[in-house]
Formats: sequence, structure tokens, C-alpha cells
Amino acid sequence: MTPKKPSNSYTIQTDIVLPSETNSLNHLFGGELLSRMDRAASIAARRHCNQTVVTASVNHVSFNIPIPLNSVVSVVAKVSRAFKTSMEVIIDVFIENTENSTKQQANQGIYTFVAVDNNTKPMAVPKIIPETPEEHTRFEAALRRKQLSLILAGRLKPNDASELKALFK
Ligand SMILES: CC(C)(COP(=O)(O)OP(=O)(O)OC[C@H]1O[C@@H](n2cnc3c(N)ncnc32)[C@H](O)[C@@H]1OP(=O)(O)O)[C@@H](O)C(=O)NCCC(=O)NCCS
Repeated sequence: MTPKKPSNSYTIQTDIVLPSETNSLNHLFGGELLSRMDRAASIAARRHCNQTVVTASVNHVSFNIPIPLNSVVSVVAKVSRAFKTSMEVIIDVFIENTENSTKQQANQGIYTFVAVDNNTKPMAVPKIIPETPEEHTRFEAALRRKQLSLILAGRLKPNDASELKALFK
């Protein structure tokens, strides 16, 4: 399979916050944001591997800034690293100020997707070659995040997570 670049999977989904999507404080409901993030991230993963994908894990989500009603919200997703059958996708969420064309990062999420066939059997995905400094940083850290996610899921023994352990030495 021909290797891909992170930019090949770049996905941006922009939408406003409607009253039905807010909590009692008139801020975007967390579950609605998670859904938007999952949709954009799954499209990015599909663009990388050109196959059906399923969400295997939500490794990290931080809700840093509340998103008010009527905000213009952009969800930006890109594959940061591809492994054998799985891909890490990083999702950055921005609030856009349409009056002065500035944007502020509100949230970030890191999801893992797996390419599967019609029987949900995992399928190999293309490798990824990072290009920008940020893509290189995210690529390097992705293996440690995968190991941590597998440990938390009970799929990997902490002692076998060499790259993650090296952080604490
Ligand atoms: C995700 C799924 C296909 C994995 O199937 P499996 O039989 O466990 O397959 P494997 O053990 O070979 O794992 C496949 C890959 O996922 C990775 N993976 C599985 N669980 C993971 C987790 N919690 N965190 C990070 N990676 C994980 C494995 O490390 C492996 O990666 P690699 O091949 O790139 O090294 C299966 O668990 C599944 O179908 N889950 C339900 C998915 C779903 O319904 N999602 C919500 C709706 S889309």
C-alpha cells in the first residue's frame, strides 16, 4: 500500500450551535460535541485507509472552554499515526469569531479507529509519513498513547509498554 501523508486525511466540519444542542447554561452539550468529533474523525480515518472504519477507543477528550449558543464551531480531524490496522486521529475544535475572523481552540480529542471488512475483521492500513513539525511530534507520541490505551483496556501488560515506560526513566 502506498504510504499517505496526514494532510491526505484532513477533514474540517463547520457548523453552528443550535438551542436544541445546548445544556441549561446555554453551552454546547458535551455529547453533541463528542458526536461531531467522532463524525469528523471517522471521515479522516476513512480518507486515510479508503476502507470502512470503527471507533475502537476514545483515548482523550479535554473540554477546555465552554462553547456558547450560536457559536460557529469547526472540528478539524487528521490521522496522526497509522499502525497495522489501527489509526490515531487527533481532533482539534475551534470557536470562530466571524466578526474579526479569529479562532480560539476550545477542545481536543484523540480517537483510535480500526479499518475493518464486512465481518468486522481488522484490515491493514497504509503507513503514514508526517511532514510538518507538529505532525512529527504527534506521530512520535502516538505510540505511547496507543500503549497507554491498550493498558487501560486490559490488552497490554504495563511491563511490555517499552516506549511508555521510557518516559518515566
Ligand atoms: C475495534 C475492533 C474491530 C478490534 O477488533 P479485535 O478483534 O480486538 O482486533 P485486534 O485485537 O486485532 O485489534 C485491532 C487493532 O485495534 C487496536 N486496538 C484495539 N483496542 C484498542 C484500544 N482500546 N486502544 C487502542 N488501540 C486498540 C489494536 O492494538 C490493533 O491495532 P494494530 O493492528 O494497528 O496494532 C473490535 O473490538 C470492534 O469491532 N469493536 C466495536 C467497534 C464499534 O462498534 N465502535 C463503535 C461504532 S463505530
